[in-house]
Amino acid sequence: MKLKITSRARLKGTIKISGSKNATLPLMVCALLTYDEIILQNIPHISDVLMMMKLLQDIGIRVIYQEDEKTLRLQKEALFVNLKKEDIKKIRASYYIMGALVANDLNFKTHYPGGCSFSKRPIDYHLDAFKKVGYQIIEKGEELIFQKLKTSDDIINYDLPKPSVGATINVLFISILRKGISIIHNPSLEPEVQQVIEMLKLMGANIIQENNTLKIEGVDHLHGITYKIMSDRIEAGSYLLLAASVKRSKIIFQNLDLTYLEDVLKTLKQMGLHFKKHNNQLVVKKTKRLIGINKTIDIYPAFPTDLQQILSVACLKAKSPSTIIDKIYPERLTHLKEIKKAKGIIQLVNHQIKIYPSYKLEAGSFYASDLRCGFACIVLAVMANGTSIIENAELILRGYENLIDKLRGLQVAIEEEKDDF
Ligand code: UD1
Repeated sequence: MKLKITSRARLKGTIKISGSKNATLPLMVCALLTYDEIILQNIPHISDVLMMMKLLQDIGIRVIYQEDEKTLRLQKEALFVNLKKEDIKKIRASYYIMGALVANDLNFKTHYPGGCSFSKRPIDYHLDAFKKVGYQIIEKGEELIFQKLKTSDDIINYDLPKPSVGATINVLFISILRKGISIIHNPSLEPEVQQVIEMLKLMGANIIQENNTLKIEGVDHLHGITYKIMSDRIEAGSYLLLAASVKRSKIIFQNLDLTYLEDVLKTLKQMGLHFKKHNNQLVVKKTKRLIGINKTIDIYPAFPTDLQQILSVACLKAKSPSTIIDKIYPERLTHLKEIKKAKGIIQLVNHQIKIYPSYKLEAGSFYASDLRCGFACIVLAVMANGTSIIENAELILRGYENLIDKLRGLQVAIEEEKDDF
């Protein structure tokens, strides 16, 4: 899929933020942990979620999706593990299925997950954790064969070298139904992980958060639940950065959770954007050129890595230079090539991204090599003089609901470019 976008100096309109992709995916997998029905509300209609529905259906989950009501009903029936390599490879979050199958004490075959490949993304913390609960994992190329060999110790300590989102959730999955105590040291406490913890606790799990640890005491079973998914802070941040990137903008944000956006809003305020809260809405206004920023990307509550590429683009038209350091994924740099194509002045110096005032950005053909790079390309196309093409744009639909309509609602001149035959 190709998108054609023509530059714009003004944006105006209202945008409603959807449910969070990175919370929805593990919450869907929780259906593997109980025989009761799970009802999830505020489901975003994005391709990663549709792929997760397929994966769950393929292993014995009854899936009823009421798209108009944004509701998903999931219920475990008899599990038969039939994971297709091509499906597993489509999304990164397929690794949550490994954790949930381990929680069910099953032997199974799967593959390394796919998803965005902006950097090396190992899953060694996950595999080490599965081994601690008695699994042998044999690797045959990309295939992973899971065999439960022994029972696990009463008390298991997990020391995560980095506070990984995926590994923390997988350790929660393999611990909540396991007899005994599990302690996660250095867990990720990103808002999406907090949602998983909250939902699991409401389902009957015994999880205690103390300082920088999570202590889990296994329970016999979990029960069903109706649960509402948080609003997507990364989608919100992406459109906030779009608002910051044009000469003038006035955008009203609805369904926004401000608590989780503190650092993003603080950063944009420092750069010169104006915010006003009005009846559960946030009115965002840009009237003057941005000021450059020095930003370190880190774990929550710091500025999120998923917005680093879009922030890099937004800084291009600031009147002073900016520096960005991504401490989570320092190699998340696929956008640099696209920025250079538009004649943006950007450099990488000792893992620091340096962005210089680049007032004359040129339209071009940009490539969405990963999800967030894709949105960064959209922002670049809106800023660059002329009409640009974004190739591989279907990737952006993995994480942005109603992308084209939402952008049009803000007066972005966007069209889907049909291939000529
Ligand atoms: C999740 C998000 C992704 C986000 C990232 C960081 C999903 C589906 N994806 O990815 O959008 O950018 O959190 O907020 O929710 N690490 C290892 N070994 C492991 C696991 C992680 O070395 O086994 C390292 C990673 O390379 C990285 C750091 O730990 O440097 C954090 O990664 P992690 O939080 O696990 O990212 P994901 O869960 O894959």
